[in-house]
Amino acid sequence: MSCINRLVCLTKVGEKMTESQNAVNPGVFDLKLKLDKGQVFSKQNGYNFPVTYRQTVRPREENSDRRRLDMNTMAPEMMALKDRLKATWMSGDYGYFATFMKAGAMEFLDELNLEPGMRMLDVGCGAGQIAIPAALRGAQVTGIDLASNLLDQARTQARFAEVKINFEQGDAETLPCDDESFDLVVSLIGAMFAPRPERVASELVRVCRTGGRIVMANWTPQGFVGELFRTVAKFVPPPEIMPSPVKWGEEETVRQRLHAGLVELNCSLRRFPFFYPFPPRDVVGLYRTHYGPINRAFASLDKKGQESLRQALEQLWIDHNVAEDGTTQYPSEYLLVTAVKG
Ligand SMILES: C[S@@+](CC[C@H](N)C(=O)[O-])C[C@H]1O[C@@H](n2cnc3c(N)ncnc32)[C@H](O)[C@@H]1O
Repeated sequence: MSCINRLVCLTKVGEKMTESQNAVNPGVFDLKLKLDKGQVFSKQNGYNFPVTYRQTVRPREENSDRRRLDMNTMAPEMMALKDRLKATWMSGDYGYFATFMKAGAMEFLDELNLEPGMRMLDVGCGAGQIAIPAALRGAQVTGIDLASNLLDQARTQARFAEVKINFEQGDAETLPCDDESFDLVVSLIGAMFAPRPERVASELVRVCRTGGRIVMANWTPQGFVGELFRTVAKFVPPPEIMPSPVKWGEEETVRQRLHAGLVELNCSLRRFPFFYPFPPRDVVGLYRTHYGPINRAFASLDKKGQESLRQALEQLWIDHNVAEDGTTQYPSEYLLVTAVKG
């Protein structure tokens, strides 16, 4: 078994991981020793992998083979787009931005009917908005996200909350997870942003166990966020080689994408409550500073373009604001997708 340029947690044969290693590094790959290129560890050289690692390492190698194959066959334009998308989500501070979305996230979590011990995968977990409360409710949670800075925030928050969660960097299109390894696979407005939705669909199904559930919340084209994206697109055209993320919010499209291997698929429209305790003008400021896609959109424009985009966004929030007390409130529609793997 070889581990090349990976950070792994090792214990000597016969030694257990210490409490603090466990507490600080609840995940599988979280620390500690950098292996040199080509270095091989096995029982013979006096090291033992902790059980969690041992359970996971073989599938990981298979998964990394899959990722490598994917990288080798990916068109250069797609590779460039993926780099750009990752940089986009790492811009701003989604962890802070998400604090204004807590109420809707908790409503989504309530829909999941979590049971203690349930193995849950959160795809596009961001800074742990639902991963952490799910773990507090007793689920065994793995969180995957493209953005390493958000995962760092998630790990810190999980430590504060005193829950163990395996947060790992990865792509929804090539999930670094074993087949059939989760009872529940969820994505709260996360997986919808990957550029190759058919791959996402097959990965969500692959990693879910037979009889397990897949639950997604996806912004709809006709809802507020769909309109927000269209407004931004007038100033900064979206990438041509990527279908619009909000197509995941159309039931018909979801049924085309998520057809194989399921025995049940239900879709229903829901409303996500947005509440900002400040006026629309400042909401634009919040998005511009903290929400990666809008942060990058502003950064790509000259001063005049920035001011035009700012005005258009402010008008959008003014038009949709249902509050009259100086705050900004609007519900944004999403499609709740619930599937059962057969
Ligand atoms: C709108 S945020 C939602 C984050 C989190 N689910 C929440 O509700 O706070 C979208 C997240 O999806 C992640 N993401 C986007 N594309 C991804 C991909 N291809 N694979 C994994 N994560 C992705 C982003 O990095 C970001 O954290």
